[in-house]
Amino acid sequence: MRHFITFDDVSVAELKRILELAQTIKADYQAGKQQKYFVGKSLALIFEKQSLRTRVSFEAGMTHLGGASMFLGDDVGFGKRESTADFSRVLSSMVDAIAFRAKKHESVVELAKYSSCPVINALTDKAHPCQILADLLTIQERLGALQNLKLAWVGDANNVAASLVRGCVKLGIEVVLGTPKKHQFDAETVRQMTAFDPNYQLTQTTDPFEAVKGAHAVFTDVWVSMGQEAEEAERKRDFADYQVNAKLLAAADKNCIFLHCLPARRGLEVTDEVMDSPQSAIVQEAENRLHAQKGLLVWLLNEAEKVKS
Ligand code: CP
Ligand code: NVA
Repeated sequence: MRHFITFDDVSVAELKRILELAQTIKADYQAGKQQKYFVGKSLALIFEKQSLRTRVSFEAGMTHLGGASMFLGDDVGFGKRESTADFSRVLSSMVDAIAFRAKKHESVVELAKYSSCPVINALTDKAHPCQILADLLTIQERLGALQNLKLAWVGDANNVAASLVRGCVKLGIEVVLGTPKKHQFDAETVRQMTAFDPNYQLTQTTDPFEAVKGAHAVFTDVWVSMGQEAEEAERKRDFADYQVNAKLLAAADKNCIFLHCLPARRGLEVTDEVMDSPQSAIVQEAENRLHAQKGLLVWLLNEAEKVKS
């Protein structure tokens, strides 16, 4: 059974194929020619945390492709009413795929272990690979290719940053992180994230200007992720010098684009000026969640051969 929990679950060729499927399916959708690959199929969405983009893109995506989706919030009692094994065996006996946004990464791994259908990571404390599929698609569209690029991540070395690194290790794309020392990835995490290519050089600097120098895309994310609310005051102090503002963006390549997975805390990690600038690709990036996840679902549910590019 194939799952998509981190980029370790796909080969380089498979990752490229998913992005290619996303491009084709997006073009078909925009041309009003969306094929209904999923008639009679269902996707279950289990969410332990809030969401706008992830939930809506999966639900709308299934509708466009002729299938159905069901949103399962707190009332299904994941982790409370029965064992994860029983929950997973029962749910997967009734649906064709499951997308799970979990408080703990281990919950998604455990659910997948007992599932008889594909499980997709819809964000955990450790990873957000669906976001990075959309980001790679956006970079390809805005910058023309996924080669010869330097990507800069400014701010917290968090779940989204970890998936960015893992995806870029797979594709051989350079990533530099500008992060305060205490929030950088530790050596063991770097080892795990780069295990696919032990020669991959991940640079972590405490200087945000050094991180963005010559970068073709600058990323940031909130300083306080869901589940870290108790650390808010401390984190705001720690990251105060890591705001992506016009001055910082001016230190990147002149054609650099700005990406943020959203939701953003405008005025903290990023200014309005950057969010609303012509360099900002944030709305396209968010919309691409829809197209990237359609590509992923078509691939995971073995419909890829039907997609004609
Ligand atoms: N970027 C993202 O995953 O957004 P949501 O939390 O709104 O799903
Ligand atoms: N790092 C953020 C991303 C939200 C999409 C969080 O985990 O809350």
